Amino acid sequence: MQAYTKSVRERAPLRLKKGPLSKLVDEADSKSAPVDPGSRFESGEGHSTHAVVGRPTRSAATAVVKAHVAVLDGKPLRAALSEALDQAERLGGSERRFVAFAVRELSRHQRLLELWARSAGHPASKLQLQEDEALLRYALWRHHVTGATAERVVVEIGLPGPVRPRSIPDNVLVRALEAPRPPLPPEPLERAATQHSFPGWLVDAIGRAAPTGELEAVLAALNLEPTLTLRARPAGTRAEVLAQLASLGVAAEACDELPDALRITDDRRAVFDSGPLKNGRLQVMDLGSQQLAALCQVTPGMTVVDWCSGAGGKALALADAVGPTGRVFAHDSSKRRLSEARRRAAELKLRQISFPDAPRLDLAQVILVDAPCSGTGTLGREPDQKWKLSAKAVAQFAQTQGEILDEVAAGAVPGAVVVYGTCSVLREEDEDVVEAFLARHPDFSLDGGSLRVWPHRSRSGGFFGARLKKHAGPVASRA
Ligand SMILES: C[S@@+](CC[C@H](N)C(=O)[O-])C[C@H]1O[C@@H](n2cnc3c(N)ncnc32)[C@H](O)[C@@H]1O
Repeated sequence: MQAYTKSVRERAPLRLKKGPLSKLVDEADSKSAPVDPGSRFESGEGHSTHAVVGRPTRSAATAVVKAHVAVLDGKPLRAALSEALDQAERLGGSERRFVAFAVRELSRHQRLLELWARSAGHPASKLQLQEDEALLRYALWRHHVTGATAERVVVEIGLPGPVRPRSIPDNVLVRALEAPRPPLPPEPLERAATQHSFPGWLVDAIGRAAPTGELEAVLAALNLEPTLTLRARPAGTRAEVLAQLASLGVAAEACDELPDALRITDDRRAVFDSGPLKNGRLQVMDLGSQQLAALCQVTPGMTVVDWCSGAGGKALALADAVGPTGRVFAHDSSKRRLSEARRRAAELKLRQISFPDAPRLDLAQVILVDAPCSGTGTLGREPDQKWKLSAKAVAQFAQTQGEILDEVAAGAVPGAVVVYGTCSVLREEDEDVVEAFLARHPDFSLDGGSLRVWPHRSRSGGFFGARLKKHAGPVASRA
């Protein structure tokens, strides 16, 4: 197999069929309209081709490749993306959307892209530079996943290119796009792992939790761009807020699952500048997250502890639910995250939230434990996590989740309900943690059925929740 040892100047440049590069760039820019991120079609070749979000220009592609190089270097995707966007100040809004989308896509489809690169004769081990690896992945993704022509791909990343250093010339890139794609492995689990680009152990683990026959749909849904969901405030005003958004030209629809949840159905940027979001009539909150807050069944006047409050997403929803006569004690082991929750509560003038160092668990009727977890339900947002997680890390999360539940259970009074939740789809962090907890705590029982939000069924991230009720003594039978 060939290694790229020569400088690119020594190689023949690709001949473009039409006009000068600048003309093609202009055409490419004007033709790329933003489309529905959810729309996709089966290519019949073992993977689905799907639409592009935002506007893929040459400058945007450069930012994508730079960010992906940083991801290959081990930088968290979020940080790599924000750094690349900071450096690319001149990009317009729709180009920035493309950059964010494409950077996530390269991590989402990493395994498939590696397979295609390998079968075209370019295994990562034979590439001289990470820039080459990132460029190849970008080209293969644009061509095979989003359906861009090879010519168009060259318009976006062709030489003389702004991505430097680089040792892979345009004609080599184009030949890689023309190479036949290898068949997927025949063994079902390996096939699913390759087709949807997941590590095998994770497919195995998701398969243990997914409803029968729905594993592939779960994997496909975890590879989709997340939808933007919001919560209308105060409760019961969704219709009014939807009408306001419509009058501002922001398309949104009611979510069937909850009375105050709504989903943005068009360009997601406009809502961020809209009055309803700026004046506190809307809170950005994943549908599953809203369902978890609703599982707390909080009513006005209640006292609630949010034990893992983080940046306060659910604490704000709980504060709205208890109203001015109730109390929410927000707690988190991270002072930094809690300071963000404090800022948001102050901004919305939610005086019923306080942030005591040691919240009084014995005063609470409901204690929410929105536990630290693998985040396997929200891989759509952070696809690089697929490649960083391990079965060992999941076991470590389960251990921590059990410990947090034990700590909270010790402080709760009989009659109180501990609501346990995660944004993981894995049994090991969900049902298994709850079952092990109940086995250790005979004075607790399940209060109602558990909540399972599956990403492929509800256009949300994947979430889990269970209500655990404390009794004065051991419970004979657990419903
Ligand atoms: C899933 S996040 C919470 C998200 C938050 N509830 C929201 O809705 O935005 C989990 C949080 O648990 C916190 N955490 C981790 N270990 C903890 C512990 N032992 N006690 C309390 N909080 C902990 C983390 O700092 C993190 O903010």
